[in-house]
Amino acid sequence: MADKIISIKNIVKDIVLGKSNKTIRIIDDISLDINKGEFLSIVGPSGSGKSTLLNLISGLSTPTSGEVYLAGQNLYELNSTKLARLRRDKIGFIFQQYNLISALPVFENIVLQLRLSHQKIDRSQIDKLLENINFEPKSSVNIDSLSGGEKQKVAIARVLATDCEIIFADEPTGALDSISSEKVFNILREITDKGKTVIMVTHNIEMASKTDRAVVIRDGKIQNILSNPTERLLLHEIAGNL
Ligand SMILES: Nc1ncnc2c1ncn2[C@@H]1O[C@H](COP(=O)(O)OP(=O)(O)OP(=O)(O)O)[C@@H](O)[C@H]1O
Ligand SMILES: [Mg+2]
Repeated sequence: MADKIISIKNIVKDIVLGKSNKTIRIIDDISLDINKGEFLSIVGPSGSGKSTLLNLISGLSTPTSGEVYLAGQNLYELNSTKLARLRRDKIGFIFQQYNLISALPVFENIVLQLRLSHQKIDRSQIDKLLENINFEPKSSVNIDSLSGGEKQKVAIARVLATDCEIIFADEPTGALDSISSEKVFNILREITDKGKTVIMVTHNIEMASKTDRAVVIRDGKIQNILSNPTERLLLHEIAGNL
């Protein structure tokens, strides 16, 4: 039996809207186990709760109720120091909005995490990483001078440079051309084959069909979980309910 690395139990996230004081449920009782070395995709319409779900599973935000166990630890029971350490040591996050530090050049953005955890920095390895995902500018340029796609590549390289066990990727290829997208996808596929776990939100049906399992989210709930998804099944799931 495969090793479970993440266990999500009945998570619910309610949000109180500012003016009206009305509460809306944006994650509605989601439970899911994720195996070590699994490449899991999360698909679903815009606004269905995919980014919110990733934030909850990775300890970036806390749910209204429910639990998440990550590498055996109950995330929401950890104090902030322990949670920060767990996140630093085990988790990499490629954000939908990149979350880069614009005051720092590309190279420093990529190695910041390594510096903070006193790890060795190998410049040639970083250059190779950037080359592998077709990043063309010099790594000494500032983030501000980059295009959206180039920023996304820096956010990807930043995570790949660390040796984290679990990678959360929120639309990691949304701003990329098709050749770069394929390269990034193949790298993520390779690292899961080596035992890392990747949880990727995507709107790209072809890409989702090449992951091990696809979780279809609608209105904050799991609509279906497809093992070895095909494009046809995914399209049926997503379009069938529009
Ligand atoms: N802080 C917040 N305050 C109010 N509403 C929120 C907040 N965060 C998320 N929402 C709402 O919750 C729902 C889910 O948002 P979320 O960003 O998780 O969707 P998504 O599936 O990632 O969408 P997309 O595909 O567009 O990235 C949306 O209706 C969004 O407007
Ligand atoms: Mg999103």
